[in-house]
Amino acid sequence: MSDLRDDVSDLFAALTGREPDGLWSAPGRVNLLGDHTDYHDGFALPFAIDRRTLVAAGARDDAVLRVVSALSDQAIEVRLDELDAVRGRAGWADYPLGVAWALGRSGADLAAVPGVDLVLDSNVPVGAGLSSSAALESAVALALDDLWRLGMSHPALAQAGRLAENDFVGAPTGILDQTAAMLGRRDAALLLDSRSLATEYVDLGLEAAGLAIVVLETGESHSHATGGYGDRRAESEAAAVRLGATSLRDLGIDDLVRARATLDDLGFRRVRHVVSENARVLEAVRLLRADGPTAIGALLDASHASLRDDYEVSTPELDLAVETARENGALGARMTGGGFGGSAIALAPVDAISRIQVALDGAFSEHGFAQPEVYPVRPSDGATRDR
Ligand code: GLA
Repeated sequence: MSDLRDDVSDLFAALTGREPDGLWSAPGRVNLLGDHTDYHDGFALPFAIDRRTLVAAGARDDAVLRVVSALSDQAIEVRLDELDAVRGRAGWADYPLGVAWALGRSGADLAAVPGVDLVLDSNVPVGAGLSSSAALESAVALALDDLWRLGMSHPALAQAGRLAENDFVGAPTGILDQTAAMLGRRDAALLLDSRSLATEYVDLGLEAAGLAIVVLETGESHSHATGGYGDRRAESEAAAVRLGATSLRDLGIDDLVRARATLDDLGFRRVRHVVSENARVLEAVRLLRADGPTAIGALLDASHASLRDDYEVSTPELDLAVETARENGALGARMTGGGFGGSAIALAPVDAISRIQVALDGAFSEHGFAQPEVYPVRPSDGATRDR
């Protein structure tokens, strides 16, 4: 991390000929439980991971936003009053530009603030389902909030990040990722109520239990701006309408009898996933608090089955990763995030991690899948100013 901080500051100095005004960072996330619930006003239990996106930033004396990433050789420059014109057309730069635009929509007077140079670097893997996009949005949101003296709260900045992603980038995602990136806390997960946006920290106590959360990156890249994610959202929202519900959050397990009688099989399964997943999140929080992390393995397994069979967002690679981890010592495992590729997570004894790594390598090559990346992640703090 400290190397990455020096690198991004040095890159800033090389590109602008001056020192940055500051350095900000925000993490990627995994979701322990509660997927495809956030846009139904439901519950989720993510944590921020020890992989971060860094932003070195400095105010300019004109009204231009200039973004450069160490991961791309392209510098993008847009005037603050012309952001609308590039909306959805700037590739990776849509994320930082979209945040500036969203802050404008959230009350910042973009005609009164200075332009900014933003130089980015990251060790959050891109397209791996670990929310590199929310890490980027959140680091930029905090940097601009400071430099423009907006005084916005972390939850408000999370909402600006989501607005950027929904209305500037064009991905119809919920508030899960930005909340984890803005509000994460060391050694804790975050219980998110996506309706009220209330959050509660839930201690994980992984280390004391000799456990770790292990990321199983399948290497299948995914994007939520296109394809399956939006389809699932539309299918399940249509089912909610047929049931006369404002949102699926309002349904409980008892309502599934009526749902089965009212909906076709596909609609019913989409609803059953959301309703049961909300219940699993609340049950996991109860178990974590009562009995600690060893108690939640079966809930992770049940969540994976539901995402695979009812919501149909898993893939053969994710299923294989989850099964292999379980067969090699994990207490539970599931895909995490939006699915259609990306990563799974396993709750595993620390001393089983290397066995899981070796077994996954073997299983993936046997199936002709690309080599997976397997590594533990530590629940970490959310967005911060680092210098
Ligand atoms: C993606 C989205 C989130 C959430 C998850 C699924 O990560 O960005 O808002 O919907 O998928 O839980």
